[in-house]
Amino acid sequence: MSTLAVIGTQWGDEGKGKITDYLAQDADMVVRYQGGANAGHTIEIGEEVFALHLLPSGILRPGIINVIGNGVVVDLDALEEEMAKVKASGHSMDGLRISDRANVVMRYHRLLDGAEERHRGTKGVGTTGRGIGPCYSDKVARHGIRVCDLLEEDALREKLDAIFPLKERQLALLGVDAMPSKEELVQGLLAHGKRLETHVCDTSVLVNDAVKKGKKVMFEGAQGTMLDIDHGTYPFVTSSSCITGGICTGVGIGPSSINEIVGVMKAYTTRVGSGPFPTELTDETGNMLMTKGGEFGATTGRPRRCGWLDLVIVRHAVRLNGLSGLAVTKLDVLGGMDKIKVCTGYEIDGRVEENFPASLNRLQRAKPVYVELPGWDEFTAGTGASYAATGYDSLPSNVKSYLDFVSRSTGVPIRIVSLGKERNETIDLRCRRKGKSHSFY
Ligand code: GDP
Ligand code: IMO
Ligand code: MG
Repeated sequence: MSTLAVIGTQWGDEGKGKITDYLAQDADMVVRYQGGANAGHTIEIGEEVFALHLLPSGILRPGIINVIGNGVVVDLDALEEEMAKVKASGHSMDGLRISDRANVVMRYHRLLDGAEERHRGTKGVGTTGRGIGPCYSDKVARHGIRVCDLLEEDALREKLDAIFPLKERQLALLGVDAMPSKEELVQGLLAHGKRLETHVCDTSVLVNDAVKKGKKVMFEGAQGTMLDIDHGTYPFVTSSSCITGGICTGVGIGPSSINEIVGVMKAYTTRVGSGPFPTELTDETGNMLMTKGGEFGATTGRPRRCGWLDLVIVRHAVRLNGLSGLAVTKLDVLGGMDKIKVCTGYEIDGRVEENFPASLNRLQRAKPVYVELPGWDEFTAGTGASYAATGYDSLPSNVKSYLDFVSRSTGVPIRIVSLGKERNETIDLRCRRKGKSHSFY
């Protein structure tokens, strides 16, 4: 069996898209299992920049089956728009498969997302406005429309007859009167169904068959561990299970089918939207990281809040996801700094805590405990690719010390080091693994 999961260890935007695309060079199948068009996974190949929201990050490599699993919430307008864009750059959609059990993000979910955020006022989550929370709420409340419903007009009409008046009332209560008519919704959904029908199937059967046949299957996380509905900074989280556990329910496979789990960790921390962020820097250094790291949301364009690397949250991610390796990204962005700080614990009420607290009040009182590590020189253009060509040992010794420190503090080996946006700015340490083939993980 040869399967591998790629999971975000922070608040999203760690570089999952780049790492998934890189690892997909050896994969037969890439599977998304949660989230929706709130995700923004950027992949840069030469002059081309792709910001993928719903399409799995294997879509830019030929011959790969790309699966949107049942745990994803699918905005059909956004999906078709994205398919058209990526297709226009010469990439085939033939290998795209969409779960017949995935829930559909309806236009009223987007309206509700905006209205609920306005209702929360200054206490808003800062959602992406993509209808994610309302869609997952309806799924759990058993009011969801699923992809299979688009292919059965009678069933779709019957479902909407029951759901529509409820949604109309909810929106009216929140002061929104822009609800499309029921017939408009039905016609739109049926048209999507016709166009997408050839891509729709039981993806649990598809993925399990591939695993049984020994195909190389990757599971691509969206968002990150700290945005997980159960284990993140609730309520400032997204509405799905972003962690490894979400793969089983979001794909329809058993836990024993997940072999290796790579956590993607940015060499510093960022967050978009509201909520606690203990190592946040609101000074010049934070600004520098934002500018130099190009830290602007791939989905909403909002500036990302930036701060030092926080190992409390990375250790949280190691435990929750059972990580077997780390992919560390954006080390180039830290280049040129004299000293680099890393948070190893939080001081709360005079005691040092090593685990991430549940209470937001306690978190508010948390003072990061830092160690200072020596920095390294600025990475000039082309440096990332040249280090990647000469290998790990050629890296500046302070970069290696930084990585050693992360690995020792988390107890997880570093498997991939990313020094730039491009595929060839990546150092692959998987071949150092004893007794393992180098071709996948
Ligand atoms: P994702 O949501 O986890 O896929 O991450 P995003 O794509 O939202 O944000 C990561 C950004 O960092 C993207 O613009 C990537 O092109 C970029 N990126 C990824 N790895 C590296 C790296 O090692 N160095 C630099 N400079 N940029 C990187
Ligand atoms: P990727 O996959 C960073 C954040 C939003 C908001 C919160 C809830 O690119 O890492 P939602 O729209 O999901 O209800 O918003 O979650 N958020 C992300 N932040 N990267 C993402 O995805 C995110 N997806 C959602 O900013 O704070
Ligand atoms: Mg992103």
